[in-house]
Amino acid sequence: MKILAIETSCDETAAAVVEDGRRVLSSVVHTQIEEHRLYGGVVPEIASRRHTEQINQVVKKALTDAGLALEGIDAVAVTAAPGLIGALLVGVNFAKGLALASGKPLIPVNHLRGHIAANYIAYPTLKPPFLCLVVSGGHTHIIDVADYTHFQVLGRTRDDAAGESFDKVARSIGFPYPGGVHMDKVSGQGNIHAYTFPHPKVEGSAYDMSFSGLKTAVINLVHNASQKGIPLCREDIAASFGHTVASILCEKLFLVQQQTGREQIVAAGGVSANSQLRAMLTAECEKRGLSLYLPPLALCGDNAAMIGAQAYYEYQAGNTADSSLNAMATMSIDRSFAEY
Ligand code: KG4
Ligand code: ZN
Repeated sequence: MKILAIETSCDETAAAVVEDGRRVLSSVVHTQIEEHRLYGGVVPEIASRRHTEQINQVVKKALTDAGLALEGIDAVAVTAAPGLIGALLVGVNFAKGLALASGKPLIPVNHLRGHIAANYIAYPTLKPPFLCLVVSGGHTHIIDVADYTHFQVLGRTRDDAAGESFDKVARSIGFPYPGGVHMDKVSGQGNIHAYTFPHPKVEGSAYDMSFSGLKTAVINLVHNASQKGIPLCREDIAASFGHTVASILCEKLFLVQQQTGREQIVAAGGVSANSQLRAMLTAECEKRGLSLYLPPLALCGDNAAMIGAQAYYEYQAGNTADSSLNAMATMSIDRSFAEY
């Protein structure tokens, strides 16, 4: 089954053709990062406008690269939640139009489910059940993936997402948006023990996390030092901060692992590209005899191939939609579109 997938939830206009959930026939990503960088973050109105301008050619290129015309595909999939509402609406309306015009089924996909499915492309034999750490710019979840379309969130951040805290700390030490990747690049030249940052405690759940206090502690350190004219080493801050984030994520993830007994560990989302996190996950899984699946760097960030991969399993489960489908800015990963 060949699925044409569309993704416009944030600042990437993307389209892909994926066969049977695993084989990528084409994948096109048009990023708007350069433009949003001028403002230090994603400007929703600009994102929607650029999606509108780009979507037609991005989708056309995905079909051409796959050597297909619209008649050659079997279904149209689209990210319908969560994300920036105006940005999502561009993809959802375009996909609805294509599905209606071609008479093909329409498959709505949750963006976070898509991030997880990036691993089905990279690892053809990977199958649920597994435990997944989803770490992106907007979400930080520890999710039990019982089946391709059954998810249970067991741990989550109570405030900032890990990616968001990376970006805000990066900004305070002078890196451009999105700063996570810049922090990662220089962290190898810094000392992880140069600073001791807090591991914020969360009341009420052993598995929930908090990154807001940690982020504020680093930003306060930077501001105090600059007011007093004390020079700071960016590399040391990046290394110590990255190490602290990776430690918090791993501590919670392996607590949940002990409870669930899942033996496959999967990572997903933009922050799963982080080298300190990847190294710590690798070492911890090796120590515990668990199998680890890390998405290749090209599949960590937003793309439509991951949406096409998840869409195949959504279709198998009967999760299609009609032209009444609407985009939603927020949606829990364990809910289905049919419930709304
Ligand atoms: O999954 P994603 O591409 O978009 C969302 O769905 O949010 O994640 C983007 C986030 C940004 O916060 C970005 O700074 C972060 O992922 N990120 C990283 C790295 N690469 C991307 N954070 C730390 N280290 C990296 N290497
Ligand atoms: Zn994403």
